[in-house]
Amino acid sequence: MSHDRMELHLHLEGAAPPAFIAGLAAEKTIDLTGVFDADGSYSFGSFARFLEVYEAATSVLQTPEDYRRLTRVVLEEQAAQGILYTEAFLSPEFCGGGDLSAWAEYLAAIREAAEEAEEQDGVILRGIVTAVRHFGPERARMSAACAQETAGDWLVGFGMAGNERVGRTGEYAYAFDMAREAGLRLTSHAGEWDGPQAVADALDHLRVERLGHGVRAVEDDALVDRLAEAGTVLEVCPGSNIALGLYPDWRAHPIERLRARGVRVTVSTDDPPFFHTSMSREYDRLAEAFDWDAAEFRTLNRVAAEAAFCDDTTRARLIEALEPKDA
Ligand code: ADE
Ligand code: ZN
Repeated sequence: MSHDRMELHLHLEGAAPPAFIAGLAAEKTIDLTGVFDADGSYSFGSFARFLEVYEAATSVLQTPEDYRRLTRVVLEEQAAQGILYTEAFLSPEFCGGGDLSAWAEYLAAIREAAEEAEEQDGVILRGIVTAVRHFGPERARMSAACAQETAGDWLVGFGMAGNERVGRTGEYAYAFDMAREAGLRLTSHAGEWDGPQAVADALDHLRVERLGHGVRAVEDDALVDRLAEAGTVLEVCPGSNIALGLYPDWRAHPIERLRARGVRVTVSTDDPPFFHTSMSREYDRLAEAFDWDAAEFRTLNRVAAEAAFCDDTTRARLIEALEPKDA
């Protein structure tokens, strides 16, 4: 397989295989009753329950060494999926039970694993510190302080995930201002569970240049035009949206309508083991549903390379990898 896929929206903890989490739980004798199905998959029936199970599963990640191991496992899978470049959401909130004072040590462990993986498999990782919206604006500012402390050529962005129906978006503006002042690039989940107004609010209040999901913008024509004109990039995760019940099937997913109207879309897997997906599965289903060919996927990856938060030397490597190869 060639290594020329780009993934801009992957939660590091959300990419943990259930067997990895179950193994750590057993090592630490942590009770994870209710987290897994009988077949060992993550078990949830709603978005609210998904967030609870996610937090229970991540509670076993208690040391920098746990994160080093997790990063290696996740990057092995990225290599197997032909993904050259990944931006991972890293949440200081989930590192060691919410004590943010050790954040720099966790980040160092993640980076060390990323450097090993790059040397071994050629895969490139960059980090985006991610606040958890339903923990509230004050904790979001604490995550932004973590991002400020470690901002640089590896920790390249700041974002927000979690339940977008909690709180008013404007309450999080200060955290995003802190990150912007530290030179970080900005993205936020919006327009996944909440409607088009949430997308407009993220643009107006958080002044993000990319949106996590953003797909519900399709419900407002003027907003779709605004996204197209501004060149805002959507980190679209179709398999995640379908698994969580936002859309009944692949053909009903709005990614094709958004793309056809000139919105810059990319494809990611979000939390692949939770949603029984992988980048290969996303590509196969999109090709089936919308008749997308190799040129279409090359365009998606080109958009992702252009919108990546990495430095321009790294970006040039990504764009080079996308050049058609002589047979
Ligand atoms: N955290 C991890 N995955 C998420 C998603 N799909 N939406 C919101 N928060 C998340
Ligand atoms: Zn996400």
